[in-house]
Amino acid sequence: MFRHEWIEKNAILLLVLTLLTISVGGIVEIIPLFTIETTIERVVGMRPYTPLELMGRNLYIREGCYTCHSQQIRALKDEVERYGHFSLAAESMYDHPFQWGSKRIGPDLARVGGKYSSDWHYAHLVNPQELVPESLMPKYGFMATTPLDFDHIDKHLRANRIVGVPYTDDQIAHAKDDLLAQANAQMDADALMKRYPKAVVVPGNDRAPTELDALVAYLQMLGTLVDFSNTSPEKLQQ
Ligand code: HEC
Repeated sequence: MFRHEWIEKNAILLLVLTLLTISVGGIVEIIPLFTIETTIERVVGMRPYTPLELMGRNLYIREGCYTCHSQQIRALKDEVERYGHFSLAAESMYDHPFQWGSKRIGPDLARVGGKYSSDWHYAHLVNPQELVPESLMPKYGFMATTPLDFDHIDKHLRANRIVGVPYTDDQIAHAKDDLLAQANAQMDADALMKRYPKAVVVPGNDRAPTELDALVAYLQMLGTLVDFSNTSPEKLQQ
């Protein structure tokens, strides 16, 4: 065709039309992902982190645990046999930023919650070599004696809400009470459990919460929120 030859001979026009064509293709593929509800499938059981778990997560990031531990079980037979059900996108939907990690000097932690007792975690974090003699993991004993700085916990919840975590006004108003209830086995945790099902109370007893209390609460939650005991894709979805 005469016009086609004209386009081909005009380098700038050809470039502009090529870019236009490619952009349309890209836009058609990408834009729906931002609007379709099911880009991240919603699953039963996911809830925002409790205030204590959120503080634990902050400490996990501060201490660089992700430099040795991933939180992403891949859909490969050996991984699933070792760690459990492969990770779902929805399981990190409230992570800002997510902790998938890229290095495994230690094991994957995506489903470590409930694997050990909280006492085991305290002892292991204080001195890993006492429980696993050949362990390369550093000791985090100082966290057992460092009081947890949670003065601004309600602001942490609020900041997470701004980036899309659905914390309610009730959860923000009771952030400090919930944090204390989860860090102290002597306190009444009913209100906490109602706001955050499956929260694991750590045995802090009557002392002020420490950094280690928060870290253990976070570890004990990992991978426990979604119920995989009776899995089929339809049952998992809400
Ligand atoms: C230098 C690398 C390194 C760093 C940093 C590190 N770990 Fe580890 N971790 C390991 C290794 C290796 C193991 C396996 C041996 C053991 O259990 O101690 C391990 C094991 C664990 C386990 C037991 C997992 C299981 O399934 O048995 C937990 C929980 C854990 N680490 C948590 C943490 C946390 C929390 C941090 C940050 C405060 C951290 N680790 C930092 C190397 C590391």
